[in-house]
Formats: sequence, structure tokens, C-alpha cells
Amino acid sequence: MRYAKKCIVTGAAGFIGSALARLLLKETDAQVLAIDKLTYAGVPESLKEAGLDPATLESSNPRLQFIKADICDLERMDAAFASFKPDAVFHLAAESHVDRSIDGPGEFVRTNVSGTASLLQAALGYWRSIPGAAERASFRFQHVSTDEVYGSLGAEGLFTEKTPYSPHSPYSATKAASDHLVRAWHDTYGLPVLVTNCSNNYGPYHFPEKLIPLAIINALEGKPLPVYGTGANVRDWLYVEDHARALLLVNEKGVPGETYNIGGRNERTNLEVVGAVCATLDEMKPRAGGAKYRDLVEFVADRPGHDLRYAIDPSKIRDELGWRPREDFGSGMRKTVRWYLDNEWWWRPIREKRYSGRRLGAAAPIRAETPDPRR
Ligand code: NAD
Ligand code: TYD
Repeated sequence: MRYAKKCIVTGAAGFIGSALARLLLKETDAQVLAIDKLTYAGVPESLKEAGLDPATLESSNPRLQFIKADICDLERMDAAFASFKPDAVFHLAAESHVDRSIDGPGEFVRTNVSGTASLLQAALGYWRSIPGAAERASFRFQHVSTDEVYGSLGAEGLFTEKTPYSPHSPYSATKAASDHLVRAWHDTYGLPVLVTNCSNNYGPYHFPEKLIPLAIINALEGKPLPVYGTGANVRDWLYVEDHARALLLVNEKGVPGETYNIGGRNERTNLEVVGAVCATLDEMKPRAGGAKYRDLVEFVADRPGHDLRYAIDPSKIRDELGWRPREDFGSGMRKTVRWYLDNEWWWRPIREKRYSGRRLGAAAPIRAETPDPRR
């Protein structure tokens, strides 16, 4: 593909950001400046195949640079824009786990809301300094968001770009706030922004706090597979590389100021998802003595405020930009399970040193880091 922009990718050591960076480096001529704070969720090993040395953060790929920085740090963001001179920004840095947002919303407000505002400020300052009108017009600030901003569906209906916002969790509320900020920078200052709202992603390099990788790894270790409530909640699953390709397409062809919903029409209940993980593992790595992985399923207390159903109507990105996902849930699940079986080097240290799989977000008291609204 002839795509040779200079791209800042924030959150590039995360699940989707690293998939996007790998895609840009493998299938385009883009230059990538990866910016990531390396929180608990930032895994530089996810960029190893793209040429990054996870120990030194030096890159052997001349088209990849990595900066360890916080998007809330306006001075560092200003400096990064001034020296790299991007044509496009893909903004993916965020606190992303709903259960952690229940336990400690403060960091979500800081990074997702204040951090997005800082990044927008840095982008605006840089954009205004671009000398040529054509270069200014082709600049893009692309904000990567979630379908969770739309709230919860009942049994019927789909989220469109016109669905009113109705977030319920601290995570989705902060993502909604960040979406509004991005649109405000377009409407007020004319910054050429694009917003995408995507459904649940799954695939390689997914941090094992999220349902699918947690279930795969727990199953491999013979541990319980925790299903919240009755397992009847529905999510609409998209293979992460399909999301990354959609982001690239929107960057090339999307109309500034517009929003594009991204989803592959793969609705599954959580119980079906865990069942699919188990069935795939039964085939690829059968348990001893004829036992089935499904026997490890354990129903646990529900998530507080648990949204019932998410489902995306992807007509706009399909009809206006020609996007189609390559994977369906069956093919994506097989690739994902295979990847975890083949890449223990990636997840084993995370499991041992960063997150062992304990239950999060079960309505424990929120931590003191939460901003005190009286101050
Ligand atoms: P992730 O948690 O795997 O990665 C987030 C990355 O951001 C990490 O590498 C982390 O170190 C970095 N980060 C966090 N705070 C930072 C800060 N203050 N400064 C710089 N870097 C920081 O998340 P993900 O699943 O890859 O999600 C990426 C984006 O896509 C998020 O904005 C998320 O809201 C959105 N999204 C995710 C999904 C999904 O299913 N995972 C679906 C739709 C949209
Ligand atoms: P998750 O992967 O955390 O994504 P999100 O909350 O952003 O949709 O969870 C996906 C679904 O799986 C959600 O309905 C909560 C549920 N879930 C479980 O049933 N058990 C688990 O251990 C986890 C982490 C999630």
C-alpha cells in the first residue's frame, strides 16, 4: 500500500496500538513515532517483531522510534510534535479496562480526559505552525474510541454514529468525555480530526486481564474461567488486525469531522465466547484424561453496572470507505488461541510479574487516588 505518512501512534505498546504500529511498519511505508508511558498495560515486547529492543527501547527499524512519555506531559508532547513533524496522529493511549475503572477511576480521568486534552493542545499548536496550506489541510488527528460510549442495548438494535451517548462505567464515561473534546477541537479550532468507535477487540498481544486472553491462560493452567453473572451479556467481537486496517483506511479516506463506527457483526454472549475458547483448546491442546476445558467455567458475582449488550452497525465505514473485516469469529478465535499457545514468552512474564489474574472491579471501595470533587 502506498501510504508514507509520518505517524505518531500513542499507546503503541498496548494491544491495539502495537497492532497498528506493526501493520504500518509491515504493510506501508509510514514512519512511526511510538509514544507510550509504559503503564502496567504497556508491553514493549509487543513491538519486538517491529524492530524494538524491549530492554533499551532502541529500534533497529529506521522507520520506528519509541518515546517513553506521558500524554499528560504537554511539554514533552510539544517537543515530540516539533521534532517529528507528523502528518497524522493515531491517539490510542488510554486506561482501557472497565474493571480497573471501577476500582480506581482517577487514573482514567487523568489519562483519558486530561491526557487527550494535552495531546489535542500539542497537536493544535503544531498544526497551526505547519507552513503550507495543503499540508495543514491533509493533517489528521485520529481519535480511537469505543462503542461503550453509547451505553447498553436491549435485545434489539445496533449502535450507529447517531446513537446518543449514554456511558455507564467510569471507563466509558472518560472515553465519552475524550470524544467530545476531540470534536470540540474540530468545531472550535478547525483541527482536522477523525473519530472511530469500535467494538470489543481480540487477538494476539491482548493483555490477560481481558476476557478472552484471561480465559485462554487460565484454561491452560487448569484454573477457573470466571464468567460474570449468568454469562448472558453480549459483546460484538472484532479481530484486532481488522480494527488496525480500518483505522488506516479511515486515516486515508475518512472525512475530517466525521465519526466511523467499526465492528464485524460478531455478537456473542460471554458464555458463548468462553465456550469457543474451550472448544478451540480442546482441539488444539486436549486436556489429560479426556477432561473438557468447559468444566473449568465458574459463574462469579456480576460486574456492577454491567452493560447488557453492545452491537455495532458498520454500514457507514463499509458503504462510504469500503471496509470489510477479513476474519470472522471462528477464524479469529483459532488464530488467537494458536498465538497464545505459541507465544508463552510474551504472556508468562506478564502473568508472573504484572497481573496474576485476580478478580478486579467487584465493587471494592474505590482507592484514594480518585480525585476528591470537593478540592
Ligand atoms: P491497552 O490498555 O492495551 O493499551 C493502552 C496503552 O496506553 C498502554 O500501552 C499504556 O502504557 C498506554 N498509556 C496509558 N496511559 C498513558 C499515558 N498517560 N500516556 C501515554 N501512554 C499511556 O488498550 P487497548 O485495548 O490497546 O486500547 C487502545 C485504545 O483503543 C484505547 O483508547 C481504548 O479505549 C480503545 N478501544 C479499545 C477496545 C478494546 O476492545 N480493547 C475497543 C475499542 C476501543
Ligand atoms: P472485557 O474483556 O473486560 O471487555 P469490556 O468490559 O470492555 O466489554 O469483558 C468482556 C465481557 O466479559 C464483559 O461483559 C465482562 C465479561 N467478563 C467476564 O465474564 N469474566 C471476566 O473475567 C472478565 C475479565 C470479563
